[in-house]
Amino acid sequence: MTDATRKILVTSALPYANGSIHMGHLIEYIQTDIWVRFQKLRGHNCTYVCASDAHGTPIMLKARELGISPEQLTEQVSREFVRDFCDFGVDFDNYHTTHSPENEAIVGQMFKTLTESGDIYTRTIEQAYDEKEGMFLPDRFVRGTCPRCKSDDQYGDACEVCGATYTPADLLDPVSVLSGTTPVKRDSEHYFFRLGEYEQHLRSWLQSAALDKSVAAKLEEWFDAGLRDWDISRDAPYFGFKIPGTDDKYFYVWLDAPVGYMASFRNLCDRRDDLDFDDYWKADSDAELYHFIGKDIMYFHTLFWPAVLQGSGFRTPTSVFSHGFLTVNGHKMSKSRGTFIQARTYLDNLDPSFLRYYYAAKLGPTIEDIDLNLEDFIARVNSDLVGKLINIASRCAGFISKRFDGRLAESLPDSGLVAEFGNASETIAGHYERREYSKAMREIMRLADKANRYIDDKKPWVMIKDEDSLADVQLVCSQGLNMFRSLMIYLSPVIPAVADDARKFLSEERWHWRDAAKPLLGATLPKFKPLLTRVEKDQVQRMVEQSRDSTPAPEAPAEDDTISIDDFMKVDLRIARIDKAEPVDGADKLLALTLDLGDSIRKVFAGIKEAYDADSLVGRQVIVVANLAPRKMRFGVSEGMVLAAGPGGEDIFLLSPDDGAKAGMRVK
Ligand code: MSP
Ligand code: ZN
Repeated sequence: MTDATRKILVTSALPYANGSIHMGHLIEYIQTDIWVRFQKLRGHNCTYVCASDAHGTPIMLKARELGISPEQLTEQVSREFVRDFCDFGVDFDNYHTTHSPENEAIVGQMFKTLTESGDIYTRTIEQAYDEKEGMFLPDRFVRGTCPRCKSDDQYGDACEVCGATYTPADLLDPVSVLSGTTPVKRDSEHYFFRLGEYEQHLRSWLQSAALDKSVAAKLEEWFDAGLRDWDISRDAPYFGFKIPGTDDKYFYVWLDAPVGYMASFRNLCDRRDDLDFDDYWKADSDAELYHFIGKDIMYFHTLFWPAVLQGSGFRTPTSVFSHGFLTVNGHKMSKSRGTFIQARTYLDNLDPSFLRYYYAAKLGPTIEDIDLNLEDFIARVNSDLVGKLINIASRCAGFISKRFDGRLAESLPDSGLVAEFGNASETIAGHYERREYSKAMREIMRLADKANRYIDDKKPWVMIKDEDSLADVQLVCSQGLNMFRSLMIYLSPVIPAVADDARKFLSEERWHWRDAAKPLLGATLPKFKPLLTRVEKDQVQRMVEQSRDSTPAPEAPAEDDTISIDDFMKVDLRIARIDKAEPVDGADKLLALTLDLGDSIRKVFAGIKEAYDADSLVGRQVIVVANLAPRKMRFGVSEGMVLAAGPGGEDIFLLSPDDGAKAGMRVK
């Protein structure tokens, strides 16, 4: 790293403007914001742009469902995004939209260049078409039976049961999600981008971009599988930019989405004299360009995007930084568990600094997933931020304001400590630069422990009782407050709001990274107010409660949840004898039961493996639902259901009839 001022342009992925920002998204925006704030604090010329991703079928349909235009929908949602980001301290230099004139102009220019060079060509393809809705169906809008494992109700692009990937045309019994009708096959001319031509360019870009090992490995896999040309057009109706020279063809959302990075920057340049678009985007630009993204969109950013930029005469990204996905308490975010937490719900209950710190303490440069464990969150924030960090100031500031009119000493007593806190500067900076935030946080907390130990050793609260050591109290507390100050400067990219308050308390105008190594002497400080208070468990619980999806499933009867005797009579309950019970390969919870129902033998999968030893079940009688429609599972077809009581896991109890019951008897 050189000392010279760097020109850096940074982006976060553009969120789809049809939902709400949630805790998963925030990993990315907080990760990027920390990096940008760090670069700015180091004195670099760093610009951070983002935008809403406005185009595509889901947004078009959502707007239609709400009875508004897609423009209205995306504007409304974007306003909400901006508020959420701002309240989380995510400080974009510009937030724009992909549905902008700047974007349309750049995409149009790229399309022209790529068409002229022969990198874009047209080809007729056959696609699923919904005649009732009058539109071609994206893969996800067709469902049907998996051609491989025969599981029903699978998406048109992949089977969630067996993992097979295919096209909607391969599905058995395909159905349009929109109208419920059977789609027909229809021809349409599409535009393709010759990705395969760029393999050499991409391979050398991969070398220069110094991607994280985990990302580079993924790219190698894709190269090995072969790069296929990319379909960049969609037929009307579509919300997007019309392809020049056509009436009913649009650019696919993923073509113009990353161009939205450029468009947002262009929009900013038009307002800022110190920024020049070409300076950052021309092929031989000396500016650095980094995209922060989630691991799910690597293909778009490490293959399509650098190739499109290269082919249309622009510079390619310096690097792409990819992060993992969020889990909460070890699981995917879930509405029923109350862990699908939206940004706003968090803000209604908790201080954003806590989440920023917690994510920083967990983040590294790899695509490993990040777990937000709510217990650990409370413990970590309370012990590190409140217990260690803020405590340094609380322990020293009172003496300075009460006994020394708020004045800090003119020198510091422990030059060794001053040097140690100053020297940590480059180590911590290196961690931030490489996005090793967890290492940076560990180093900062190690120093915080050291500061607290220093105060413990000196015991200013004892010294103060002796008039002769009064001057020493001022020295010790000034040393303490200076350690606090250095750590706050180091932490300011992570918890900017808290650091700002600390800076104001220290009566300083602004901070630069290098100020952490220069002690603050002789300043007069105002009275100290606590900068953060502990997280309480019930705040977190309330947030989880508010996130829990309590609205009943749409098919549930609204006013009455009883069933009639007729409904009940439909359930055919029978006694069955377990003939065989076997573990199922690859399923931790399931046993495969062979049941004798008197007049038939059935195979049923039951989630009772943790509660029962398979061998002990043979010969036992149980109650089954005999007329349940057969269900295709990953391991085979289940032809009924065995009744049991209890919450599950080890606590599950098979219901058994009293002696005398015989296989096949009806249960009344
Ligand atoms: N619109 C595209 C990005 C276009 S960029 C030219 C998109 N939008 S998104 O709203 O689905 O996601 C925005 C970013 O948030 C992506 O980088 C995505 O990986 C990230 N995340 C969304 N959900 C996430 C988690 N649950 N966990 C971590 N990151 C997640 O993709
Ligand atoms: Zn399948």
